[in-house]
Amino acid sequence: LVLSNSVQYSGSMSMVFVQPSDEVAEIWHGRRLGVDKAASALNVDHSENIEALSQILTDLVDGHDNVYYALGKDLFADGLIQSAIDECTTAPKQSKHAPASRHDIRPILHAMRLYKSAAELEVMQAAADIASAAHVRAMKYAHPGCNEFELEAEIKHEFAMRGAKHEAYHSIVGGGENACILHYTQNNQEIADGDLVLIDAGCELQGYASDITRTFPVNGKFSAPQAALYQLVLDAQLAALGVLKPGATISQAMSACVRVLVEGLVRLNVLSGSVEQNIEDETWRAFFMHGLGHWLGLDVHDVGIYKVDGQDRLLASNMVMTVEPGLYIPSSANVPEIYKGIGIRIEDDIVITKEGNSVLTQKVPKTIAQIEALMQP
Ligand code: GLY
Ligand code: MN
Ligand code: MN
Repeated sequence: LVLSNSVQYSGSMSMVFVQPSDEVAEIWHGRRLGVDKAASALNVDHSENIEALSQILTDLVDGHDNVYYALGKDLFADGLIQSAIDECTTAPKQSKHAPASRHDIRPILHAMRLYKSAAELEVMQAAADIASAAHVRAMKYAHPGCNEFELEAEIKHEFAMRGAKHEAYHSIVGGGENACILHYTQNNQEIADGDLVLIDAGCELQGYASDITRTFPVNGKFSAPQAALYQLVLDAQLAALGVLKPGATISQAMSACVRVLVEGLVRLNVLSGSVEQNIEDETWRAFFMHGLGHWLGLDVHDVGIYKVDGQDRLLASNMVMTVEPGLYIPSSANVPEIYKGIGIRIEDDIVITKEGNSVLTQKVPKTIAQIEALMQP
């Protein structure tokens, strides 16, 4: 196969198909790289005009037995590949060899994406640092009566000023009982003196996500019931972090986390009965209704399966994940009055190392003392 500019196709070659330069279209819609500049600008081996895609695809699949692509992901791509294969099948005098099999490449790619390279980890640390600075900024700014969207703006400002144009997901800023709404994104209420505020916000940097949650008192000082529940979530998170290392599973960390939570909830009379019975009956799920964490990478909820042949996947070095236990106690719950309406989550991003794990997001204060010190006027 000879490509444009007399480039000879070689067995392993990356190629990008782009729109050609067009003066008028570029006046209306913006600059194009153009075919000649696209390859070096995008760091691929070769670039071609998108108008040649069908023809080149036919030539590319000709002679191969297998084609790997995101099979079934979108009808347009399926149609392109099908046409290329049909062209081979119906070529005169069987002059072409049509691939017999098509495969979905995603399970292979997704398994690869679980393990981050040193270069990826560097970008993810930078994304974590930017998001950490944003959370610190929001904590410093917060004051009774401020609106949730003001804190959202502080977060976005810090992202942008540090080089991250995009959020990795819509920031959650929930004051008071809004913290109990897991996917709260209205972010438009004033936060009353004495309330906690939960901020779940992360930036995207060079395609990679960070994902941090902190919960803090809008007036800078935890009340006794807030502190009791906060310390419980923190202890539960630390228990989980103590388990996450190569060879361990997320389920094992979840069990350690749940045990700490249940012991505390029983001690605080939020749950009644024995610790063992509550764990067995999963009564705690009324107040902690989501998972411990998720893979993190190019997507905030990154790809990669959590079970392999029905068994929990074993953790290994260079996997990146979040660790994010929470407690959410709606005012409708049948619990001591002092705990009603409190929602708390503490979320960090970690990388599994040879011996254990390393927290990418440790620059944001997490203990009660650290948060109160930072928020001092
Ligand atoms: N921010 C989404 C999550 O924590 O999973
Ligand atoms: Mn998360
Ligand atoms: Mn989050």
